[in-house]
Amino acid sequence: MVFGLAAEGTVASDPAKIVGPNACAECHKQESEAWQATHHFKTFREMPRKKEANQIAERMGIQRIRSDSMCLGCHYTVQQKDSAKQPIAGISCESCHSAGEDWIKVHSGFSGKNEKTETKAEKEARLKLADSKGMIRPSSIYRLAKNCYSCHVVPQEDLVNKGGHTAGSAFEMVSWSQGEVRHNTWHSKGKENVPANAARKRLLYLIGLGVELETALRAVGKATARRTYAFAMAKRADRARKQLADAAKAAPNVPEIAKLVEYGHSAGLKLNNERFLAAAADGVSKTLTSISEKYDGSTMAGLDSLIPGPDKFKGAPK
Ligand code: HEC
Ligand code: HEC
Ligand code: HEC
Ligand code: HEC
Repeated sequence: MVFGLAAEGTVASDPAKIVGPNACAECHKQESEAWQATHHFKTFREMPRKKEANQIAERMGIQRIRSDSMCLGCHYTVQQKDSAKQPIAGISCESCHSAGEDWIKVHSGFSGKNEKTETKAEKEARLKLADSKGMIRPSSIYRLAKNCYSCHVVPQEDLVNKGGHTAGSAFEMVSWSQGEVRHNTWHSKGKENVPANAARKRLLYLIGLGVELETALRAVGKATARRTYAFAMAKRADRARKQLADAAKAAPNVPEIAKLVEYGHSAGLKLNNERFLAAAADGVSKTLTSISEKYDGSTMAGLDSLIPGPDKFKGAPK
């Protein structure tokens, strides 16, 4: 999560609470190896060397990419060391699962017992405690997706209009999480990098599209100039609500999808409309939370024909 965006209400990668990917790799060796083959890992060394990066930095008046918080928030994992913030890796474990200091011992501690002796109730309480200490686990699809989008849709108008940075990725939750990013080797005990199952893919797809809409509505609300940034964000919002309208048709047994579309049309995609756009985004957010609580994806087979297949996955899993 972009730590410069405290207003968004998340502290997913608070530099003071980052333990670093090596600490995770002590137990998660295989997940760590998969991560090291991704763009997320490589950006640490490669991005600052690129001509395009230096042009963006120059237009933004940035001297050193690796010490300017604007670039650090999305391209690096930053750790507080004594009084200085230091980039220690690219986009790493804690960029997606949240800064670990408060939950690392809890999530792996089997409530002071071991995997066999911990009771079901103790396990539930342990995972709940880890969640409450900020851990983003795979079961929290809405929080996972919000976090991806906090980087993959760029919220800084200036960085786009003045810096010439892309306004974001052509992001989609299933295809972008199941390719090179995939590291589902823990629960399979390292035997296989298991893709998300059909029910989970439906939720990734639907909640991902909803977060796309929510993020774009907020971004249009914040836009101040009729330039690239505002146009790109309005286009994203419009596309997301069209895709959601198709999803509503494909899965009429999930009435909440039509509700998302309704919120998507409840505020004009124009400048100086932040109050209504933010209210629309809040409506989307509330509906996504209730979808997460009510459904497990098993009744959403209607969505299957809309979900990108393996030929669309971004990169190949290790
Ligand atoms: C001391 C060993 C250890 C360390 C260090 C460790 N983990 Fe884990 N991790 C575990 C164990 C054990 C489990 C399985 C717990 C269970 O069965 O509920 C696990 C599970 C997970 C899960 C899956 C949770 C779920 O709900 O499926 C994630 C995600 C995770 N760890 C991330 C991390 C990250 C990120 C770090 C570093 C900040 C880290 N772990 C450090 C041992 C560790
Ligand atoms: C809000 C998050 C965010 C911020 C802030 C940000 N970037 Fe990026 N950047 C991204 C994402 C996401 C991509 C990948 C876009 C895509 O999918 O095409 C990217 C891609 C790039 C690329 C092209 C890909 C590559 O690595 O060659 C460069 C260069 C780059 N960013 C430089 C910068 C610089 C320099 C800064 C600071 C001035 C910066 N970025 C700030 C999110 C961000
Ligand atoms: C780009 C974001 C991202 C990064 C970086 C990342 N994860 Fe994950 N992680 C996820 C997502 C998303 C899932 C769920 C995948 C799915 O639904 O198929 C996941 C799942 C997991 C799981 C459960 C795997 C299973 O077998 O079900 C573990 C354990 C885990 N991550 C640990 C780590 C560790 C350790 C690192 C760093 C070496 C890391 N993750 C880096 C996003 C990330
Ligand atoms: C902290 C910011 C951040 C977070 C969180 C994040 N990403 Fe990224 N991601 C980036 C940046 C920046 C790049 C571009 C890196 C580069 O190439 O220089 C990128 C690149 C990627 C790529 C490679 C794209 C390509 O060009 O092939 C994939 C796939 C991806 N991200 C998926 C995800 C998924 C899925 C999640 C959430 C589970 C996620 N990311 C979360 C910042 C982030």
